[in-house]
Amino acid sequence: MPLTDLHRARQQGLSAHQAAAAHPPHTAPAALYLALWAHADGRPDPAREHAQLARRLDPHSEFARLLPHHLEHEHTGVYDSPEAFGAFIRGGGNVELYHATSRALARNLDEHAPRTLLDVGPGDGLALLPALNDAAGPAPHVDLVEPSTALLEGATDALQAQGIGHRAFNTTVENLLTRHPDQRWDLTQSTFALQSLPPHERGPLLQALAERTRHLAVVEFDVAHVPDPFDPQWFNSCLQRLERGLREYEDDRDLVGSGFILPVVLGHFATHTRTNYEHSVQDWVQDLQEAGFTDVGAHHLCDYWWEPAWLIQARGQHPG
Ligand SMILES: C[S@@+](CC[C@H](N)C(=O)[O-])C[C@H]1O[C@@H](n2cnc3c(N)ncnc32)[C@H](O)[C@@H]1O
Repeated sequence: MPLTDLHRARQQGLSAHQAAAAHPPHTAPAALYLALWAHADGRPDPAREHAQLARRLDPHSEFARLLPHHLEHEHTGVYDSPEAFGAFIRGGGNVELYHATSRALARNLDEHAPRTLLDVGPGDGLALLPALNDAAGPAPHVDLVEPSTALLEGATDALQAQGIGHRAFNTTVENLLTRHPDQRWDLTQSTFALQSLPPHERGPLLQALAERTRHLAVVEFDVAHVPDPFDPQWFNSCLQRLERGLREYEDDRDLVGSGFILPVVLGHFATHTRTNYEHSVQDWVQDLQEAGFTDVGAHHLCDYWWEPAWLIQARGQHPG
């Protein structure tokens, strides 16, 4: 059954179970489509069965190989245990992406020479530390706000080892801004972290940041709005990109695939497992302008298997 027929059945209100009974899948993409549909409906058993069928239909598909395992041991706290995320950002296309990101952050530090820097969601510091090292001037005092205890420890250990003055806040940026209403920063930066905030929380957060920072630098992927992840065209493009992304990893492929790539990408299909809310660059620019940032500019940073990454810079309202 072609994906367009499955999509039509879905739009007509059929369940994955009904669609599969009427039209048993004969291709791996059709079986994967039904697996993700059942998963989105909160039906783990048929989701696993379709995923196993996809594996049999295409033994060369890495996604079909990893999906049954992921559905068996599904977890959504992708930053709680840092191994998979740590291996993900240190391999494949992330090597070039993180070089480009750190270089851009270093240039931004040179341009603004901040005395105080807030890094929102620094993870284990893989983008932050090289940026601080590459920047020409003295390192600013760094505040880190990161809800993952394990990742935050990695970042603070690295800052400690370099003798860079810092404070670590093991919480969300929303909490930090609420609990420290008088705190201001010369520069706030964030790489691939603001996408974690759901859209309804993002506006108020950006507004609060605009009032309390002099400059802002954000790196995010430019992701067009996905009205329906089960649209066959988007679904097929997602399958192709996923396969490419997974194959960028060799020894770590299972760890990275099951522990990070699959949970993040599958979040697009099932709202109950969503881990991020990506946005187009135009939407980021508009969000920042609406929040009160001025001089908002965006520059393409680096191509990547999922979508290209962009640097967005803006001026906040805090005079410094
Ligand atoms: C994709 S990772 C990026 C980490 C790091 N900035 C980097 O470039 O490697 C997203 C990070 O955002 C953090 N995060 C998620 N929600 C957050 C929030 N509400 N406030 C601050 N950080 C958050 C996660 O714990 C995670 O470390």
